[in-house]
Amino acid sequence: MQSQPSARYYDWWQRQDLCYQDGKLMFAGHPVSALAARYGSPAFVYSMARVKANLQRLHSALEAAGFAGRYSILYAMKANRFAPLLTHLKTLGLCGIDACSPQEVELAVSCGFKPAQISFTAGSLSKNDFDILSRFDGLVMDCDSIHAIKTWGKYRPGAAIGIRINPALGVSRENNSALQYAGSVTTKFGIYREQFHEALAIAKAAGLTVNKIHFHTGCGYLTPQLEQWDRVIASCQWFLDQCPDLRVVNVGGGLGVPHTAEDGTLDLTQWGEILRKHFGNRKIQLEVEPGEYVLKDAGLLLLGKTYLEKKQNTWFLGLDAGFNIAPEPAYYKLPFQPLSLELGNGTFSQLQVVGNINEALDVWFQDAWLPAMDNQDYLALINAGAYSSSMASNHCMRGAFREYLID
Ligand SMILES: Cc1ncc(COP(=O)(O)O)c(C=O)c1O
Repeated sequence: MQSQPSARYYDWWQRQDLCYQDGKLMFAGHPVSALAARYGSPAFVYSMARVKANLQRLHSALEAAGFAGRYSILYAMKANRFAPLLTHLKTLGLCGIDACSPQEVELAVSCGFKPAQISFTAGSLSKNDFDILSRFDGLVMDCDSIHAIKTWGKYRPGAAIGIRINPALGVSRENNSALQYAGSVTTKFGIYREQFHEALAIAKAAGLTVNKIHFHTGCGYLTPQLEQWDRVIASCQWFLDQCPDLRVVNVGGGLGVPHTAEDGTLDLTQWGEILRKHFGNRKIQLEVEPGEYVLKDAGLLLLGKTYLEKKQNTWFLGLDAGFNIAPEPAYYKLPFQPLSLELGNGTFSQLQVVGNINEALDVWFQDAWLPAMDNQDYLALINAGAYSSSMASNHCMRGAFREYLID
C-alpha cells in the first residue's frame, strides 16, 4: 500500500497566496497558524485580495472576448452573504449583485448596493415576497414562472422584466447531477420552450416588456464541460429570437473551481470565446452571475483538532465542527481538502477527518494524507469561501462560527 501521498496531492491547490513556505501553510501573506491563534475555531477566513483577483480575471476574460463596455458581473450572494464582504464588494465596484430572495435584496441594499445594481431571480414567490420586492424601485426582476409574470404584472404594470428560461439542457461539474438545474428531468427552474409563447402573451397582456433572457443550468463546470456549455447556449438562442425587445442576456453562474488533484482550472479564454461566438454579433448587454468562482477559493475554514484515535485499523482525526457549517462536502460530494498548518518531517499517514455531529455523513474528508498531527492543534479546509457559511445550520446546536475578512 502507498505510504506517501502523490506529489500532486500536496501540489494541485498551491498558488502564490496559498502555499507552504518553509513548511508552514501561508494564506494571503499570513502564516495560517497565526490566523488560527488569533481567530480560534471554527472560523472562516476570506482573502479580499483573492476575491478581487477572481473578479478581475473574469473582467479580463470578458473584455478579451470583445464585451468591453457591454457586460456586467453580478455576484451571486447566495454563495456568501457575510455583510462586511458585501460592503467590501460594493466599495470595490467590480460587480453588482444576483439575489435569490427578498431578504437577500434587503441585505444587499443595506450594504450599499442600489436596487438597479441587483438582478433578482427566484422561484415559488409568496405574496409577502412580492410585497417586499415591489418596495425596491429599479430592481431587475427575472420571472421564472408564468405565476411570477402574472403577479409582477399586477404590482408593476408597464415594467420591463427578464424571463428565466429552461432550455432542457444543462451543464455542471462532471458526474454530479445534483448540481444540474436543467436537463432530461423536468425541473422547477425557469420556463420551458413549450410554455414560452404563452409566457410572452401573458407578459404582453400585463403590459410588461420582456427585455432580458436569463438562464442558469447548473454549477461547477470546468474546462472539459465547456463543449456542453456551448451546446447549452446554442439551445437558448431560439428563446432570444422570440423577444423583439431583447436588450440583456444573463448566462447565469456555474463557473467552477478545482476541488481535487484531477480537476484543472477553468479556461476562461475558451469560456469567453464561446460567449463571443454566440453573443458577439448580438446587440445585447451580457450578464454573468458567478458565486463559486468569485468566493470559493478565497476562503479557508479553520478548525480545531479534538482527537486522534485508531478504531479497528482506521485512524480518525476529529475536528471541533461538523458538516452543518459547511455542508457541500456532505451534500454535494465536493471534497474540501484538509491541510495541516505545519508540514512536519515529511512523513504522512492516511486519516479519516471527521466532525462533531451525530450523523454518519459527518465526514469532512475520506483518506486524507496528513503529516503527524500529534502536536498540531488546527487544520484548514480549502474552498470554504462559498456555499459554506451561507448554507450553515444549527444542527445539534453546533452552528456557531465566526467569519473574518483579511487583506
Ligand atoms: C440563478 C442562479 N444564478 C447564479 C448562481 C450562482 O451559481 P455559482 O455559484 O455556481 O456560480 C446560482 C446558484 O445556484 C443560481 O441559482
